[in-house]
Amino acid sequence: MKKIVGIIGSLRKDSIHRVLFNEYKEISNDQFELIEGEIKDLPLYNQDIEDQPNSVAALARKVASADGILFFSPEYNYSIPGGLKNALDWISRDDDKPFDRKPAAIIGASPGAIGTARMQYHLRQVGVFLNIDFLNKPEVMVGKAYDKIKDGRLIDDGTIQFLKKHVEAFSAHIEN
Ligand SMILES: Cc1cc2nc3c(=O)[nH]c(=O)nc-3n(C[C@H](O)[C@H](O)[C@H](O)COP(=O)(O)O)c2cc1C
Repeated sequence: MKKIVGIIGSLRKDSIHRVLFNEYKEISNDQFELIEGEIKDLPLYNQDIEDQPNSVAALARKVASADGILFFSPEYNYSIPGGLKNALDWISRDDDKPFDRKPAAIIGASPGAIGTARMQYHLRQVGVFLNIDFLNKPEVMVGKAYDKIKDGRLIDDGTIQFLKKHVEAFSAHIEN
């Protein structure tokens, strides 16, 4: 079975993106295995650090061996959360270029109406340099997310059905 690495851009324990990761894992478990690529233990990127930290090496190997990457990320100040950008910067310096031509997609949710659109286009822009093979459509931008995610579960049927469609599209994307 294909293996997908999910990177969650929020570090907080009650993250709605962690809920979405768990729901997506459940919805997609007959198509591929979704495992987490944790970013919380990575040090801040510093070009003076010449030896790759173990936490970075572990994540880089996970990304390199994955059949695809799913980013579950909030938008912070109209852009990519620092922790996620830090992880991308670390992995970009790995000799194997783990993201090169890697199929990927973005799942984002916000309490407001826009549903992380601005973060997603910044992430796609970074993906141009890293040569990430992002799925274009469907885009997943869940607005009014605090009405749809409660007590650690996704309770909005429309969003669940939409995620099922996304699983189909992403499954086809990783086959190409
Ligand atoms: C530092 C910070 C900046 C934020 N900036 C935005 C923003 O630009 N756009 C937005 O829609 N929500 C913004 N939010 C609200 C987040 O969408 C909201 O906190 C969301 O629940 C974070 O995702 P999480 O639950 O997975 O941690 C911001 C939150 C924080 C903590």
